[in-house]
Amino acid sequence: MFITLEGPEGSGKTSQMPRLAARLEAKGFHVVQTREPGGTPIGDQIREVLFDLENTAMHPRSEILLFQASRSQLVEQVIKPALSAGHVVLCDRYADSTLAYQGYGHGVDLEQLSEIVNFATGGLKPDLTLFLDVDVRDGLDRRGSDGDWNRLDDYDVAFHQRVYKGYKKLMAAEPQRWVKVDASADPEAVAEALQAAVLERLKT
Ligand SMILES: Nc1ncnc2c1ncn2[C@@H]1O[C@H](COP(=O)(O)OP(=O)(O)OP(=O)(O)O)[C@@H](O)[C@H]1O
Ligand SMILES: [Mg+2]
Repeated sequence: MFITLEGPEGSGKTSQMPRLAARLEAKGFHVVQTREPGGTPIGDQIREVLFDLENTAMHPRSEILLFQASRSQLVEQVIKPALSAGHVVLCDRYADSTLAYQGYGHGVDLEQLSEIVNFATGGLKPDLTLFLDVDVRDGLDRRGSDGDWNRLDDYDVAFHQRVYKGYKKLMAAEPQRWVKVDASADPEAVAEALQAAVLERLKT
């Protein structure tokens, strides 16, 4: 099963993923954890370019293609082999982030974007996407205080609000794939909700 974690900045995706993995491992599942951009040696090099605060000249189209280059490498080198081996794959961000950030955030044509994403993934879609729901400003405040600020966090609040609304539209378009979890709760409660959502899906 291929499970992705999505949501606005600071919603807890990166901090919750290992907790979720540990809980699933305890239930006997073999879990592979990965992240975007990155997750492979080539992808991690692309990640550095994408997140570098000095790269203020980056054009949105370049940004889009760098994300897809990292993604295609991840799909072929990590995700597909793990799924073939019967593992549960957890991925911190995936294709929906491109549609939310570059599509709804930057206003890039969604149809064109979907085609590019589809090319990068070879059509591989998540079986389940967990949406960590937190108020945009609260999420940015969390990120601002953890000292890990990057070039993408640096877009203004209006951009992040458009991203958030974009996620809502993506969820409405494919309600069966998404489960929304209240990520404003304390980390333990969020972990519990994420585990429940996944176990429910793994049963079926
Ligand atoms: N439920 C929570 N309550 C309070 N603080 C939290 C909670 N979840 C995460 N945090 C804190 O918020 C900050 C951001 O969390 P995290 O890096 O996991 O978010 P993220 O969704 O991965 O963000 P990004 O999209 O920017 O990568 C961290 O300092 C983390 O400890
Ligand atoms: Mg993160």
